[in-house]
Amino acid sequence: MPIRQLSETVINQIAAGEVIERPASVVKELVENALDAGASRVEIATAGGGLNLIRVVDDGSGIPAAELPLAVSRHCTSKLSEDIHDIRSLGFRGEALPSIGSVSRLTIRSRTADAEEAMEIAVEGGRVSALRPAAANRGTQVEVRDLFYATPVRLKFMKGERAESSAIGDVVKRIAVAFPAVRFTLTGTDRTRLDLPAEADDEDGRLRRLAKVLGDDFPRNALALDAMREGVHLAGQVSIPSFTRANALMQFAYVNGRPVRDRQIAAAIRAAYADVLPRDRHAIGALFLTLDPGLVDVNVHPAKADVRFRDPGLVRGLIIGAIRQALAEAGMRPATSGTAGMMAAFRPGAAPA
Ligand SMILES: Nc1ncnc2c1ncn2[C@@H]1O[C@H](COP(=O)(O)OP(=O)(O)OP(=O)(O)O)[C@@H](O)[C@H]1O
Ligand SMILES: [Mg+2]
Repeated sequence: MPIRQLSETVINQIAAGEVIERPASVVKELVENALDAGASRVEIATAGGGLNLIRVVDDGSGIPAAELPLAVSRHCTSKLSEDIHDIRSLGFRGEALPSIGSVSRLTIRSRTADAEEAMEIAVEGGRVSALRPAAANRGTQVEVRDLFYATPVRLKFMKGERAESSAIGDVVKRIAVAFPAVRFTLTGTDRTRLDLPAEADDEDGRLRRLAKVLGDDFPRNALALDAMREGVHLAGQVSIPSFTRANALMQFAYVNGRPVRDRQIAAAIRAAYADVLPRDRHAIGALFLTLDPGLVDVNVHPAKADVRFRDPGLVRGLIIGAIRQALAEAGMRPATSGTAGMMAAFRPGAAPA
């Protein structure tokens, strides 16, 4: 077969293979778009574990009518100029909406503050419709129906409504913890229903949001973290050794506000608790790392959940040191144990050992 340029739809479906793994990935992308648009309210509704329907409504900036066709075109984004190392938004690749549109029936209805009416665009299995006027308040409403109908092989890999619903719930919780000032609602199944009122955008608000997500008794069983080393700041709350779970799902990590699932961060948390927790128990809580965007690469995988730190040892030491110090200060870890020397080495601000 001669070499040919692939069609736009096939290109988008290939990208969707990485970006849109399951319904929860769609929810993540749409909620991130709403937050990038400055929304103060994000409403998420799903049906059939997100395979039949995912609807995300926000009150953010909206998309100007003339830009709607661009929003569903590959490599079109309002979030990145030419410097890929200066990323301050959750999205930047310009591929989430075209990817979703290539494997589902996607409708976007949007209205900016100065527009007289809303406009709507639809994409079905990659085919883009003409713009049409619609009724809506300021903001954006994105509806995704029949996810993966255009890629039946992917559809076969879905785990069933309950599992997909609970993955959606986890994704929303993970993002919501980083945006306490935004109100989130999730409806679909009763088991995953969420209503997270807007909280203050400060440490108290963050703790209240965490309590909504991790349980009302979390704050009573949490230790505050606040440490800085060589320009990397760590804040957050982690549970005391008697307040644990059988898995690490409720361990949330954020790098510059972006939810990440980083093995090195998880390993550092495990190491910090190694002396006080059995191997099959996991602390819960949230870690917020803040550092110069130039010191961390978020463009590692299309789903953007992976990060690469310029100095992974520094981040590991910071996390271990801060958690161990918090445990010791709360009297939950003998300060004079054999690892005391290590603790001193890991103390925030100290020179790396
Ligand atoms: N809810 C929304 N409110 C306002 N604008 C939006 C919304 N969703 C999408 N957009 C606009 O559409 C563009 C394309 O969205 P899309 O998610 O495909 O790409 P992106 O967010 O720029 O990058 P990524 O692929 O990394 O998510 C965005 O850059 C943004 O300008
Ligand atoms: Mg996006």
